[in-house]
Order: sequence, then C-alpha cells, then structure tokens
Amino acid sequence: MRAAPCRPICWLKFGTIYLSLALSVIILHLYIERVTYLRTCEVAKVNLPNSVAKSSCSFYSLSPKEAYLARLLKDSTAWPETLSLMSHLLLNNTSDPAHSTFTILPPNRGGSWNIGDQLEVLIKMYDFHGHPKKSGGDFLLARLHNPSLHAGVAGQVLDYGNGSYTAVFSLLWEGRAQVEVILVHPSEGVTVLQKLTKEQPDRIYFRSLFRLGSVEKNTTCNICLNATRRLCNYTDLNTGEPWFCYKPNQLNCDARVTHSKGGFRQNLQPIEEKLFQSDVNMKVSIPASGPSHIQVLNQMDHLDRSAFNLPWDYPGGIRNTVKTKPTGYYYQGAWRSLDGTTVHQFNTITAISQCLKNKVVHLYGDSTIRQWFEYFNKSLPDLKEFDLQSSKQTGPLLALDYANNILMTFHSHGPPIRFGSMPVSQLRYIANELDHVVGGTRTVVVIGIWSHFSTFPIEVYIRRLLNIRKAVVRMMKRAPGTLVIIRTANPKALTLYETLTNSDWYSLQRDKVLRAIFKRVKVRLVDAWEMTLAHHLPHALHPHPPIVKNMIDVILSYICPTADNL
Ligand SMILES: *[C@@H]1O[C@H](CO)[C@@H](O)[C@H](O)[C@H]1NC(C)=O
Ligand SMILES: *[C@@H]1O[C@H](CO)[C@@H](O)[C@H](O)[C@H]1NC(C)=O
Ligand SMILES: *[C@@H]1O[C@H](CO)[C@@H](O)[C@H](O)[C@H]1NC(C)=O
Ligand SMILES: *[C@@H]1O[C@H](CO)[C@@H](O)[C@H](O)[C@H]1NC(C)=O
Ligand SMILES: *[C@@H]1O[C@H](CO)[C@@H](O)[C@H](O)[C@H]1NC(C)=O
Ligand SMILES: *[C@@H]1O[C@H](CO)[C@@H](O)[C@H](O)[C@H]1NC(C)=O
Ligand SMILES: *[C@@H]1O[C@H](CO)[C@@H](O)[C@H](O)[C@H]1NC(C)=O
Repeated sequence: MRAAPCRPICWLKFGTIYLSLALSVIILHLYIERVTYLRTCEVAKVNLPNSVAKSSCSFYSLSPKEAYLARLLKDSTAWPETLSLMSHLLLNNTSDPAHSTFTILPPNRGGSWNIGDQLEVLIKMYDFHGHPKKSGGDFLLARLHNPSLHAGVAGQVLDYGNGSYTAVFSLLWEGRAQVEVILVHPSEGVTVLQKLTKEQPDRIYFRSLFRLGSVEKNTTCNICLNATRRLCNYTDLNTGEPWFCYKPNQLNCDARVTHSKGGFRQNLQPIEEKLFQSDVNMKVSIPASGPSHIQVLNQMDHLDRSAFNLPWDYPGGIRNTVKTKPTGYYYQGAWRSLDGTTVHQFNTITAISQCLKNKVVHLYGDSTIRQWFEYFNKSLPDLKEFDLQSSKQTGPLLALDYANNILMTFHSHGPPIRFGSMPVSQLRYIANELDHVVGGTRTVVVIGIWSHFSTFPIEVYIRRLLNIRKAVVRMMKRAPGTLVIIRTANPKALTLYETLTNSDWYSLQRDKVLRAIFKRVKVRLVDAWEMTLAHHLPHALHPHPPIVKNMIDVILSYICPTADNL
C-alpha cells in the first residue's frame, strides 16, 4: 500500500500509527464523497483550534461538516512533533546538513540493482556539533538522477522519528543513478513555520481602495481581521468564503473599487532567522558517507516484473517499509508518466493547434497557471490575445484562434491573491466561475490554486478546495464530457522572505490536502511537485521553460490521448 500519493516526504511510523492513519484516510474519502452531495449553504460558527480563535481569525467559520472534514484532512497531513529553538536548544543543537550523511543500502537480493527494484538510502541527521539528532521532523527532499541521460525521479522520504530517515527510489532506467538528498528545513525551522501560522496568520495583508466622487481611502483587508474596528463583510454568499476590509471613514462598504497585495509583517527573533540560511541549513545538499551513485542493470529475469505491481519481499528490519510509486520520471529530458497515460511530445505548432482545435480551454488559478496561458500565447502564432484592457499579471486574459476555433481564457482565483491592483469586479472565486461554465466534451478546465494560501491556517485552503470540488462535481453532472485538469503545487527557490510567506513546507502540506480532496473525483492531475523535484533545473515558483514544456505535453496528452496528428 502506498502511504500517500507520490509523497516525497512521509512520516509514517509503523504499527498502530500507520493503521490509524490508513483508517482515517479511508474515513476521510468516504466523508468527502458524502459532503459533496450535501447542498447546504449554511455557515455556522464552530470552535476552531484555540490557536486560530486567539489570533485575529476570531470569526473565521466553517460549517460543522466542513470543520469535521478539515480535522480529518489536517490529521492526514500531521507532521511529527518538532522541538523549539527557544526552549532549551541552541542553534548548535539544530540539524546541520554538512554534518549529516546519507548511505546507499546494499541491494536486497543478489549483488545488483535492476530496473524495477527499489533503492533505499539511509539518512542520518547530525547537529552542528556533530552529535546525532534524536528526533525527527526535518523536511528532506530526495531525487535520483542521471545527468547524461537527462533522467530523474523523485524519491519518497520516511521519517523514523529518531534522527534517521530513509529515502526510497524506483529504479527506472539502465545505467548510472545518482542520489541527491536535500535538507529543505531543519525540524526546528518547521517549528517556527508552524508557530508563524498560529500566531501571525495575517502576516500577509491586502489593501482595497474605496472611492466615491473625489473621496478616496485605502484600508487593510484579509480573511481575518481584528474586530476592534468596524468591518466591511464581503463574505461570498454562494460559497461562504469569508473576506473583510476595515470600513473606511466617510465611505460605505460598497465604495470598494480595487484589491491588491498590501504587504508582509516580518516578526521573527534574530535567532529564529538563523534557521533559514540559504548556504547553511535551507535547501542544502546532504553529503554521502560513501558512494552516492549506483549502476542499474536491465536483466531479463526482471523484465516481466512490471515496475510497480510487484510483491516486494524485503526481509525484516527497517527494509520492509514503503513501496514508492512515483507519478512519473524524466528520461532523455521528457516526462514519462507511470499512471498509464502515454505522454506525447507536442513539439510543433501544428501538433498543439490540432490538439486544441475546436476546444474551449479555461485556466483558473494563480500565476503558475497563468504561465501556461503565456506558454500557449507564445507558442501558437494564430492564437491571438484579445486585449481585455486588464493587467498582464492579474488577468482576466483571453486568446482566440479563429482558424482553428480555439478559445482560451485565464482567470485569477479569488482572494487571498497577492497580485497588484485589480478591480474588485474581477475578484472571483473559481467555484462560482465553474458554475457559469457550460462544459462538455469540447471544454477543458484547468485549475491551479496553492501558493497564495501558505500563510493562512490550512482550514482556509481546505474550505476553498471543498467549494471547488463541489462545483467540479456539479459541472461533471450537467456536462459529463468536461475534462478537468488540476495542477499541484511545486517546490520553489527559497530566501528568508520566500520561506516565511511561501515555504515548500507550507506547499507540501497544502499539496497533500489537494490530492486527498480530489482523489475520488474524475480529474486529471499534473504532478508539478514531482515534475519539478525530479528535474535537474533548480526549483522555481514558476518552473523553468523545459519543465513547463513537459507539463504542457502532459496536459495536451490528457486532451488528446491518441495524438493522431503527431
Ligand atoms: C556553537 O559551537 C561552536 C563550536 O562548536 C562554538 O564556537 C560556539 O560558541 C557555539 N555556539 C553556541 C551558541 O553555543
Ligand atoms: C546542545 O548542545 C550542547 C553543547 O553545545 C549540549 O551540552 C547540550 O546537551 C545539547 N542539548 C541538547 C538538547 O541536545
Ligand atoms: C531509528 O528507528 C529505526 C526504525 O525503528 C531503527 O531501525 C533504527 O535503528 C533507529 N535508529 C537509531 C539511530 O536509533
Ligand atoms: C491607495 O493605495 C494606492 C496603492 O498603494 C496608492 O497609489 C494611492 O495613492 C492610495 N490612495 C490613498 C487615498 O491613500
Ligand atoms: C489584533 O488584536 C490583538 C489583540 O488586541 C493584537 O495583539 C494584534 O496585534 C492585532 N492584530 C492586528 C493585525 O491588528
Ligand atoms: C459576514 O457575512 C456572512 C454572510 O452574510 C455572515 O454569515 C457572517 O456572519 C458575517 N460575518 C461577520 C463577522 O459579520
Ligand atoms: C501574448 O502574446 C503577445 C504577442 O507576443 C504579447 O504581446 C502579449 O503580451 C502576450 N500576453 C501574455 C499574457 O503573455
């Protein structure tokens, strides 16, 4: 059984914890199914965790059913307990990648590795003194790659909770395979990230301009605001999504004209900042204690064992753990899917436009989805952007190819969205937009929503996705042929600022929730997480062009599975 869909990090322990987690995941999925069909719009107050209630989110509310579901989803993303720097630990006691090591464990049977086998790597964490760490919770990412073959695959990391971890990889190509293990954050850094969400969920804030005649005022807006001043309540009646601004003096709430990112309040102890140093302990490679690569053979007696449905029979010890099941891998620079989808190469204008011929493609989400609009806009000369007089950053964007009868749109998701100024009339929730899509076999709906939610309690993201899920299910019922594609989160380059507002750790938690919520819905995923992690180019919020090209190939392969024109 697979712990979580393609998780690069997994903290499962054995026995009861594993079992109870598995059970809660099952209950969760059953529950999500049921909730989808509940047509309740009532929004009742529930008791959120004290942490949230004490913060400025005092009136953040979920319906009781959503709150229950949120609790289950939250449990399924739980992270091992991590220590706090402030209590008794010094910086010297925290995880140090330079002192830590990984070791390739010997092959399981015989003396060789073969395609279809799993490779296990033991990771041992040490602090700056070189003392072994005794607790878990470090955020590690692992990759297996071959630079000359342009091959790469994401590994799955297991946390034993005692300072040891294993990374497990699928062996998918013949030849050299090089292991790379990265410490993204020390466990003590994760403590700080968790604390920030608890204590400062409003550290990213937003602004709105209010105007009537010549009177103009700006006020602060957010999902949660202190009710110490008068508020304007912009909670969406259809979805129940909350949004508030401080009421401007002299002006009414309906005088709000624009929405924009306000800013970021950084409120961190200097010692805590030391946990996020790019060349020391943030996204730093862990060295190998011995060889860091293996040779993979392609022996006949292993060929019949299709790579992923084998009964792995590891003898006891710690090596009977997880079967990693990546979504796909790179070979010769091209993404190969392992979920049964054949990924075709759409390398020419004709190939792309023939695939999109007679299609309506709606893209909804953040800038990582806008990137795809930009890709098509750039690649297809006949797909002309129509000037909607909107900003290139916020959209909405519209492009048309009359000859091939292609319509493509981009709409940003609703607040919280950290874009520049946009008219409030364009501030729309994806769930509401989907309710206005006719749908059908000619319609492709692409959704990518993750990076603007990192600073908020996870309940905010859960609620948003549940609303989108309900709208997707409604759309599938009225127009069953509609193709819905969902883009997952991806790891990015981290500075201190980027970490506090949008760390990969926050993205990972949200990514788990996204996969769980859409697991039983007939949507196709673009696994941006693994596609970025497995690639040799550096992590970037907006992945580099060769990665985007591979993502586009995946989308087009979903739209045109036979790709006759290639
Ligand atoms: C950390 O350890 C180094 C060397 O082991 C030492 O020089 C330094 O003073 C220590 N710092 C603290 C805060 O203990
Ligand atoms: C932290 O490191 C110091 C040495 O600098 C050591 O004396 C102390 O026991 C360590 N504390 C923990 C909790 O590991
Ligand atoms: C950590 O836990 C694993 C699994 O229980 C065990 O096999 C390993 O020996 C432990 N490592 C240490 C250093 O205690
Ligand atoms: C409101 O904020 C915008 C953007 O920050 C700024 O350009 C404008 O001058 C402000 N208006 C007022 C009345 O403060
Ligand atoms: C909200 O109110 C609390 C207590 O009154 C205060 O500590 C906190 O700074 C306020 N937050 C904001 C964003 O104004
Ligand atoms: C905001 O409006 C919504 C919908 O009308 C309502 O349910 C909610 O209680 C209001 N919240 C506050 C704090 O007034
Ligand atoms: C679309 O392409 C046109 C022509 O190259 C360019 O001017 C425009 O800025 C592009 N739009 C976007 C949103 O990238």
